Amino acid sequence: MGRRIGPLLLLCASLLAATALPATPTAAAGTGTGAEDAATARSPRPLDQVIPAPASVREKGRPYTITPRTVIRVYDGQSHDRRGNHGGGASKDVRQVAERLAELLRPATGYRLPVTTSPGRDGIQLRLGGHRTLGSEGYRLDVGERAVKLSAREPAGLFHGVQTLRQVLPAAVEARSEQPGPWRIAGGTITDTPRYAYRGAMLDVARHFFPVGAVKRYIDQLALYKVNTLHLHLSDDQGWRIAVDSWPRLADYGGGSEVGGGPGGYYTKADYREIVRYASARHLTVVPEIDMPGHTNAALASYAELNCDGVAPPRYTGIEVGFSSLCVPLERTYDFVDDVIRELAALTPGPYLHIGGDEAHATSHEDYVTFMRRVQPVVAKYGKKAIGWHQITAAPDRGTVAQYWGYDQTGAEERARVAEAARRGTKLVLSPADRAYLDMKYDKDTPLGLSWAGYVSTRRSYDWDPGGYLEGVPERAVLGVEAPLWSETIATSAQLEYLAFPRLPGVAELGWSPAATHDWDGYRERLAQQGPRWELMGVNYYRSPQVPWPR
Ligand code: ACM
Repeated sequence: MGRRIGPLLLLCASLLAATALPATPTAAAGTGTGAEDAATARSPRPLDQVIPAPASVREKGRPYTITPRTVIRVYDGQSHDRRGNHGGGASKDVRQVAERLAELLRPATGYRLPVTTSPGRDGIQLRLGGHRTLGSEGYRLDVGERAVKLSAREPAGLFHGVQTLRQVLPAAVEARSEQPGPWRIAGGTITDTPRYAYRGAMLDVARHFFPVGAVKRYIDQLALYKVNTLHLHLSDDQGWRIAVDSWPRLADYGGGSEVGGGPGGYYTKADYREIVRYASARHLTVVPEIDMPGHTNAALASYAELNCDGVAPPRYTGIEVGFSSLCVPLERTYDFVDDVIRELAALTPGPYLHIGGDEAHATSHEDYVTFMRRVQPVVAKYGKKAIGWHQITAAPDRGTVAQYWGYDQTGAEERARVAEAARRGTKLVLSPADRAYLDMKYDKDTPLGLSWAGYVSTRRSYDWDPGGYLEGVPERAVLGVEAPLWSETIATSAQLEYLAFPRLPGVAELGWSPAATHDWDGYRERLAQQGPRWELMGVNYYRSPQVPWPR
């Protein structure tokens, strides 16, 4: 098996050996025996070195080795797909997960790894079925010397199981060129289900526009950590980013600006559908946000008729907040809202539409309540559930979800109102700004980001418990967590990644892993091992001094 690897990859491989076996560091370094010998000498990665931490891990028995003869077998236990069609073979969704696994493994291994529906006792087996307790996203991974068996009730569970499989293989599996093996996986069983149903990340494409390719890149990164929701902040004072046929100037004119005076941009409906499709193939649901009644300068600039005085303001490229408002007493406002929500709902297969509701400082409290009482039923009329930033707890409809973005300095009264709504049945997504906001600087030296909620170190973003975070909120009211990334200071994928990594995996773990696994000391070791993966994936991460990176 001749293979050429560059010095950089050699270095990575030897560092990996050092990571996996701290007792015998740098087996390959300086000996001239090469990375392959070092890799052969080491044991497979422990099965529990995964982010998010699996609910249950039992190491047992001999490892499995992926070889040039390995096949990927797909089964759907009941011989029909999950819509009840008897097809006699694996459903399309299961096959898609298997193909994605094969695509992931082929470049680094250099093996063929054919996907087949023919039964057999060997290979990597993907199967729909398994115990009811796995739910809609859980999976079970059994690794034995002869086969790797991955099972789940739904394709989403298989997909998440594949992300675990990726992480229990050597980091070199993320390389896009052939690497030395061996490709061993420790023997044992992982049984894994998520703590929360909603595990989100938000990208602000309004302050700076991020093209479809950049969004897809982020989706791939989110999927690795079992994030299942992508919230897109599609409108703000600085730009309107989604085409609306009935109000074309929103995108044509309102999309043509961004922070700092750049050209902006917007998604055509085809672009947006492509993002939804790409996300869905990775088992993420898109939640689109149109922020209202504040954060609406781009809309107000596009249509004079939306303004109380009939005069359109200029477009805005600064970073102040709280100065714009839709005109609550104006009937035309509700034509606009109805049209936008109708078109967006028609484009969005997921259950939620986010209607913003934060920082409406230019809207009176009375107008705010009037507006929200009128707009939430519009979301319901088009078959969706409303999510709003937590200020919406001033007037939540039944079923509306509130996204908490307060921080340590948020007043007791505001927290109490959110808690009271939660006790009355409003479900919460938790995004505390001084924990989960990925755009807060890590420390005073961070070149990107903001600091109005304080500095958010890697440890701080991980070291909290969503279950006990807000006093007076019953655990059942917590739908999940989300890590928002606002884009006032970022305009490229490299900048986005510098703020998201290494904090995003921590928030993802809070959303997925049982509270019992929470442990900073163990987490930082697991996190350190992601570094070499990110290097091979080309992810630009911040080398936080709190994390013992391999070098
Ligand atoms: C927010 O940060 N204004 C939700």
